[in-house]
Amino acid sequence: MNQVTVGITGASGAIYALRTVRALMICGFQIDLIVSEFGWMLLRDEGGFEGKKKDLPEFLVRCYGDVVRNGSITMHNSENMAATVASGSVGSNGMVVVPCSMKYVSSIAIGASTNLIERAADVALKEKRPLVLVPRETPFNLVHLRNLTAAAEAGASILPAMPAFYQNPVSFDDLADFIAGRVLSQLGIAHDLYPPWEGS
Ligand SMILES: Cc1cc2nc3c(=O)[nH]c(=O)nc-3n(C[C@H](O)[C@H](O)[C@H](O)COP(=O)(O)O)c2cc1C
Repeated sequence: MNQVTVGITGASGAIYALRTVRALMICGFQIDLIVSEFGWMLLRDEGGFEGKKKDLPEFLVRCYGDVVRNGSITMHNSENMAATVASGSVGSNGMVVVPCSMKYVSSIAIGASTNLIERAADVALKEKRPLVLVPRETPFNLVHLRNLTAAAEAGASILPAMPAFYQNPVSFDDLADFIAGRVLSQLGIAHDLYPPWEGS
């Protein structure tokens, strides 16, 4: 199995989504990609993607080069509840929602399953597969914190978009790759996005 489901929602942080997708593709993964309507706006306004939705894979090749052709993307409409990833009968290495808006943190925490991102996350939890949520909001209010706790109690890994600086990043991409690398680690995928800390 070499498949990961990726949800992109409308919290700020398109770069986290793009660098995570890039890393998964370089590692040869088949990605089932679900983008919310606000997620598409985010990819346009922050990510610079202006084409038709179906052209996103080619946009990634233009941005990152042929190396992303190691992997592949299957795009799903977020309203298509009959997609493969809506069923636990289809195998998967797990799912990441990056960035994950507070709206999706709440709907995933209560198991709403009103669209394909929520349903695929629900499937990951019920099948006991890795589900990584990358929330981006600050400050958190008590509702956010309670919803994050509920999602964690249900089995999700809460991986806030909080890049570290001990790797001496020199670019936004370095910062985003720190988060992308932490996501891949949570999914059990080896990577070399940054050198591990060697001690001092
Ligand atoms: C400029 C701007 C920045 C936003 N940033 C965030 C954010 O960082 N995190 C968040 O949870 N929502 C943020 N929001 C609110 C979400 O965009 C809004 O809740 C939207 O419904 C989320 O998209 P979704 O439907 O994909 O969840 C922002 C809204 C605007 C207009």
